[in-house]
Amino acid sequence: TTARLTLDPAFRIGPVDPRLFGSFVEHMGRCVYTGVFEPGHPLADADGFRTDVLELTRELGVTLVRYPGGNFVSNYRWEDGVGPVEDRPARLELAWRSLEGNSFGLNEFMAWAAKAGVEPMMALNLGTRGVAEALELVEYANYPGGTRLSELRRAHGADKPHDVRLWCLGNELDGPWQMGHKTAGEYGRLAAETARALKRFDQGLSLVACGSSNSGMPTFGAWEAEVLEATYEMVDYVSLHAYYDPSDGDVDSFLASGADMEHMIRSIAATADHVGAKLRSDKKIKLSFDEWNVWYQSRFNGESSLEWTEHPRLIEDSYDVTDAVVVGSLLITLLRNADRVGVACQAQLANVIAPIRTEPGGPAWRQTIFHPFALTARHARGEVLRVEPECATIPTAKYGEAPAIWATATHDAATGAVIASLPVIVLYLVAQRWVIEGISRSGLKG
Ligand code: AHR
Repeated sequence: TTARLTLDPAFRIGPVDPRLFGSFVEHMGRCVYTGVFEPGHPLADADGFRTDVLELTRELGVTLVRYPGGNFVSNYRWEDGVGPVEDRPARLELAWRSLEGNSFGLNEFMAWAAKAGVEPMMALNLGTRGVAEALELVEYANYPGGTRLSELRRAHGADKPHDVRLWCLGNELDGPWQMGHKTAGEYGRLAAETARALKRFDQGLSLVACGSSNSGMPTFGAWEAEVLEATYEMVDYVSLHAYYDPSDGDVDSFLASGADMEHMIRSIAATADHVGAKLRSDKKIKLSFDEWNVWYQSRFNGESSLEWTEHPRLIEDSYDVTDAVVVGSLLITLLRNADRVGVACQAQLANVIAPIRTEPGGPAWRQTIFHPFALTARHARGEVLRVEPECATIPTAKYGEAPAIWATATHDAATGAVIASLPVIVLYLVAQRWVIEGISRSGLKG
C-alpha cells in the first residue's frame, strides 16, 4: 500500500493556538484530592500541591486547565471553597455522590495553575444557580479591590486579581444527569442573560456556551442552533465533548475516532454558521472542545460511589498503546481544524481518565496517552498546513470508510529561519496501528 502526502507552506489552515493543549481538573474521584493536591505527601510543597504531578504537568506541555467541573460544577457553591480552610463546609456532592470537604477551591486552584504555568479556564454553575452568583464569582476572582467581594478575596490571601479570561457558561446542561438540567430554550435564555451581564462587567471576557454533551444526544445540532440563536452576539465559543470507548473490541472503528471527531467539529461549525447567516452576522463562533479523550465508558456504567466517601476511586482507566494512537489521532484532528477550534481540553489531568496517575502517599507516573500529547504540544508550532493524504480507506462498522492515514503538519517559519534559513515541518502520521513522528528539514518552496 502506498500513500502520498502533499505539503505546501502556502496552504495554511491557521495558527496553532496554544489553547489547543488544554486539560481539565474536576472535583471528581481523585483528580484533585490525592491527584494534584495531597497535603502530607512526601513530595507535597507548602501549599499541599504534589510536586511530582506539577512536574509531569509541565512535561506534558499543558497550556490551559478547565476547573472545577464537569458535572460537579452544576451544583457547586464556589463560596464553600474560599476563606479559612477550617471554616469551609463539608457538602454532599451529588454529581458523583461523594463527600466534598472543600479544602481545595478557587484560590488553591489559581495558585496551582500559576505553579503549573497554565491559563485557568473557569466553569460557572448555571445548573442550580444563575446570573447573580456568576457575577459574584467573576467579581471575586477578577476585580482588583475596593468592593465587598474583591476585598474578601484579598482578605483570603489573594491580593492580586486572578484575571481569568475564559469562562464556561455551565456544563452539559442538555444532559438529564446534570443537576439543574435544562431545555435548549431555558438554557439559551439563562446563558444569554449571564453573558450579557458578564460582558457589562468586562467586555474582554471570552465566554463558552454549552453545546451538546456528545454527538449521540437526541438534540445534537438542534440544541446548538437554539442556544446560539439566543446567545450569538454575546458568546465567543460553543463547547463540544466527545469520549471514544474501545470496550467493544472493534479496533478498526476505534482507530477511526479522529475522523468521527472531525465530522462532529464540521457539523457544529456548520450549525453555528447557519445561525450566523440567519442572524445576518459577520461574526464567527469558535469551538471549544473542552472535554475529549479515550474513556472505557461501558465499564463505567454510570458509576458513582455507593457510599458517601471522600475522593473515591472513579474511572481510573489504564491505557494501552492503541489508546495512545487514538489520543494522537484526536490531537491531529484538533490541529486539522485549527481554523475553528480555539480551545481544547483533554479530560482529565490526573487519575480520572488521565495521562497522569498517582497513588496516595505513593508515586506518580505517565500513562501511554501521556506521550502523544506531550510530543504534539512540544512540536506543533506556527501554522497548521492543509494535508489531505491520498491513501487507501478501511471499512469500519461505526463510521463507514475511514482513511488509513490520518495526518497533519505544522510549519514554523520562525524556527525555520533560525535553523539554516530552512522551514521546519513537524509531521505526525497516524496509520492503522502505528505512529511515526518524522521531522523533515527539506526546504519547501511556497
Ligand atoms: O470528565 C468526566 C465527565 O464527563 C464530566 O464531569 C462531564 O462533563 C462529562 O460527562
